Amino acid sequence: KGKIGVLTSGGDAPGMNAAIRAVVRTGITRGYDVYGIRRGYNGILHREMDLLTFKDVSEKLQHGGTFLFTARSAEFREIEGKKKAAEICKEMGIETLIVIGGDGSFTGAKNLSKFGVNIIGIPGTIDLDIAYTDYTIGFDTAVNTAMEAIDRLRETSNSHERCSVVEVMGRSAGYIALWCGIANGAEEILLPEKFDNNYDALLEQIHKNRELGMTHQIVVNAEGVGHSDELAKKIEDATGIETRATILGHLQRGGSPTARDRFYASMMGAYAVDVIDQGRKNRLIGYKNGKLYDVDVDEAFAMTKSIDEYEYEIARVLGTRE
Ligand code: F6P
Repeated sequence: KGKIGVLTSGGDAPGMNAAIRAVVRTGITRGYDVYGIRRGYNGILHREMDLLTFKDVSEKLQHGGTFLFTARSAEFREIEGKKKAAEICKEMGIETLIVIGGDGSFTGAKNLSKFGVNIIGIPGTIDLDIAYTDYTIGFDTAVNTAMEAIDRLRETSNSHERCSVVEVMGRSAGYIALWCGIANGAEEILLPEKFDNNYDALLEQIHKNRELGMTHQIVVNAEGVGHSDELAKKIEDATGIETRATILGHLQRGGSPTARDRFYASMMGAYAVDVIDQGRKNRLIGYKNGKLYDVDVDEAFAMTKSIDEYEYEIARVLGTRE
């Protein structure tokens, strides 16, 4: 029926392999040739692509990372790079490109579509920061990894009667921090979308918490707020409570995907192929109101999303003592 290219781009996310596998197996079943492109958009520019078989995607589903590798391509970011990529796709006969990645990767895909390549996006990012969808591949695994790490920190923090500042990923999005805030019962959460840099109020609250009898405290700090070491020092200096900072970093990006990530990555991969099969063009695959759906790429980019006010308020209510 034609050729489909599939690539992963931007930060990797657990479940990407499951999505690739589903694209390959559904694609072959529906009569397409599926090409795996290595190293994101760079792979198009350097013609790094191979026809994939059913067997090529065995034993991949349960592993984190992406066996196609990923990259952030400087060359592709330029307009010339996109033109060249579109020409190579045409020359190789790849009519449709499935891009598994986050917001940045989708911007690239959207721009590439203007040069005549049909693009289909599958949301893959631990950040959950894509407006048109309630679910992104990798978030569930990452947030569970962070939650388990914070449970461990709470135990040692408790034994030593310390305060723990723990930094979770999210350069411009606080979803991991918000979820850990609730799932770990954090005393404080600092989100890039919400924190007003009022450190005085924060320090006062931490001091007050100790006076109210909290022997230890967890401050979940999103990467976008950052400066966790400095913050720990500030807390210790201002309150006298011994404080440690832990930056979870890229630990959150690896690991075997949860059932939820495997399930939705598989369903989205298959759905992406069926969208192609039904002749719909330039669509992003998402999950909203309990269902998979697809939306026009330009329409999706016009949507916005922000931290849910009620969830944020409750995270704070549940973490206080009065
Ligand atoms: O977008 C996913 C993410 O893990 C962000 O949370 C983080 O800010 C960024 O990628 C880190 O990027 P890199 O792996 O390039 O350091």
